[in-house]
Amino acid sequence: MNLPPRPNAWFLVATASEVRRSRLLPVDVGELRVVVGRSSDGTAFAMDARCPHMGADLAAGRLEGDSVRCGLHHFRYDLQGRCVEMPGAPDEPDRAPRVRTRPVVERFGGVFVFCGSGEPFAPPRLLVQDREHTAWAAGPPVEVGCPWPPLITNGFDMQHLRTVHRRELRTEPVATTVDPTTYQLKYVSRVTGRALSDRVMRRLSGDHIDVCVSCHGGSVMLAEVDLGRTRSAVLMGVLPKGEHTVARCLFGVPAESRIVGARLLVARWLYTSFLRQDVQVLRGMRFDAPPALQADAVLRSFVTFLEQLP
Ligand code: FES
Ligand SMILES: [Fe+2]
Repeated sequence: MNLPPRPNAWFLVATASEVRRSRLLPVDVGELRVVVGRSSDGTAFAMDARCPHMGADLAAGRLEGDSVRCGLHHFRYDLQGRCVEMPGAPDEPDRAPRVRTRPVVERFGGVFVFCGSGEPFAPPRLLVQDREHTAWAAGPPVEVGCPWPPLITNGFDMQHLRTVHRRELRTEPVATTVDPTTYQLKYVSRVTGRALSDRVMRRLSGDHIDVCVSCHGGSVMLAEVDLGRTRSAVLMGVLPKGEHTVARCLFGVPAESRIVGARLLVARWLYTSFLRQDVQVLRGMRFDAPPALQADAVLRSFVTFLEQLP
């Protein structure tokens, strides 16, 4: 199996409220460190954190309006990455270094940075629900004791739905490669567990849980869930961290509801209860390619998708 230490992809690096005009936020995406901030008009930006002069960490510098100043020799970079001031070498502007900037999009209440090489592909998007009519809330980052592949493949592991999450399939899962960087799986499940969150889920859904789970570029997993009378979504972004992975989740519910705050709390509780079960069993996992069992056919097709990502 041939998966990189870090996918060439969009990463959920922060919530929108964590990214400010007043400071540079450092985020480690595997070996790559980026700094994220906002320009004077509020637009989020990201750039590689290593100063191209001598490698100081720009997170130790300052955000000055629409430029970033390195803390070591005070070179100043505009938000396109051009060095616009070198206090110790004012006569050598043609030798000014350039810092690499990164494409950024904000959606679902999160800030996504493209940390790949080459042209960015489309950022994560809802495949069945309507973004305009969804309200979002964020959970805290959680460090999971395994590399990113076990976490991102988990949503496509049909066997573990039964054993870990106590769900049975009502329909055969249908997998589709939507485009070269987007994989989608649809199925309907029912609840067999008896924990409080299972009973609430059974009640809310009428025991008919229509799921569309998708992966965007290997770094984002998105579940869009239709419960009949209502719907919800959870987006999980992974950030590789050595042999571990930091997972961040955003939870979505219909925005037009009068009790949107309460619905967000319930969705967050249900999804957190669900995902907590994964965090426990994935600890210490080193991902091996699934064997040729028919029960792992979906998982194998998803791994093939991951392997062919740009
Ligand atoms: S290392 Fe940043 S200005 Fe010298
Ligand atoms: Fe799971």
